[in-house]
Amino acid sequence: MRRPRSVRTMVAISATIALSTGMAVAVATSASAASTLGAAAAESGRYFGAATNSFMLNRQPHATVLNREFNSIVAENEMKWYHTEPNQNQFNFTAGDQLIAHARARGMTVRGHTLVWHAQQPQWAQNMSGSALRNAMINHINRVAGHWRGQIHSWDVVNEAFADGGSGGRRDSNLQRTGNDWIEVAFRTARAADPNAKLCYNDYNTDGINAKSTAIYNMVRDFKARGVPIDCVGLQSHLGTSLDPTYQQNIQRFADLGVDVQITELDIQQGGNQANMYGQVTRACLAVARCTGITVWGVLDPDSWRTGANPLLFDGNGNKKPAYDAVLNALNAGGNPPPPTTAPPATTPPPSGGGCSATVSMNSWNGGFVATVRVTAGSSSINGWRVRLNVPSGASVTGAWNADRSGNTGAVDFTNVSYNGQVGAGQSTEFGFQASGNGSIPTPSCTAG
Ligand code: G3I
Repeated sequence: MRRPRSVRTMVAISATIALSTGMAVAVATSASAASTLGAAAAESGRYFGAATNSFMLNRQPHATVLNREFNSIVAENEMKWYHTEPNQNQFNFTAGDQLIAHARARGMTVRGHTLVWHAQQPQWAQNMSGSALRNAMINHINRVAGHWRGQIHSWDVVNEAFADGGSGGRRDSNLQRTGNDWIEVAFRTARAADPNAKLCYNDYNTDGINAKSTAIYNMVRDFKARGVPIDCVGLQSHLGTSLDPTYQQNIQRFADLGVDVQITELDIQQGGNQANMYGQVTRACLAVARCTGITVWGVLDPDSWRTGANPLLFDGNGNKKPAYDAVLNALNAGGNPPPPTTAPPATTPPPSGGGCSATVSMNSWNGGFVATVRVTAGSSSINGWRVRLNVPSGASVTGAWNADRSGNTGAVDFTNVSYNGQVGAGQSTEFGFQASGNGSIPTPSCTAG
């Protein structure tokens, strides 16, 4: 299982032979361990990322270190609700687009942080409650995850929804007060908006087995049992001067539920045991096959939100700290490779003739629902589709994604948009919409062409 280590062991053996037979040392040491965090993590199929901001992308020495060391980035603030939707239904994707372009040009993956959170909401959302807030949340997820569809490796769909302390319950917030199902509605909505992103639940003070991490564990287990789409758990890991002895055990128990684990916001207080702790965290992740990546919450110490803690891997001049060496050495020692990514969900059986068919699944709460509609081509590929469905009496469509819509009550037509009209024989595509009201939707009709 420890593939990289065995490769290096062979290199070491051949180096010894080379030296004893008088061959050039340059040849003997040529296949040394990876020299950057991203490359070293990639050897065991993982990423190593950092949080940054669009306005730092050309700031030195931040930029040089970011581009050299990391193969993943996350927006420290610029994909949060207050930033992406400062006024209701007015979206600002500029900074996030810049971060994604920067990453794509360099072969880095992007973590999305975060679709819904009780903090850093725009003022207009802070003032909302009930179904208005629930609908605003759904619309936000649809629009933001839809805008970056296909470009985000993993989304922190919901951030920090559990209470601290021993209660093991949810944190009170305007979102929580919309009903306990708000988290699963967020995940279902995110899945429909970007089916290829891994969907994570992300939180802090979960860096060991404790009441809070156990409450999250129970939620994930429940989601898996009920088919709520969740792919990963983010352990933020803002750490002090000692590591919980159950850190790795905690990662393992989440992995055993069938979700990936990602260390999402790692930073560790300097002045205690910083370098050792960085090494311990890295080794714990590498030891668990489904711990698929680590992100540090900033690049240079002065970038950090923890002013004065100097909790990162590089000082203000971009010099590598002992903590950096501890991480690189741990990565280069290898780890259990993550399992291959799961295959996409099976397509529904194609209709026997040509044309297309459509099925609908609903996620409802009192006063509203989200519908996901799957369009499947028949025995021939199609170059466009129109789905007509009957919205229940009294219900009204308030927004749609991945389709153009005409009407909002009664018989409503949805047609393909530019990127999803072509569907191969037997293949499927999905669109969705949200609505206020109650009731169920009979099987829709689908017309190709
Ligand atoms: O952009 C405004 C600026 O216009 C204004 O002049 C200035 C005055 O205070 O504030 C600026 O906004 C700040 C923002 O960072 C951008 O710099 C906010 O005040 C400040 O509160 C905000 O802090 C961020 C914090 O999340 C917000 O809760 C930190 O940078 C960011 O590192 C931190 O990250 C969080 C994760 O998202 C979730 N997990 C915990 C982590 C650490 O708190």
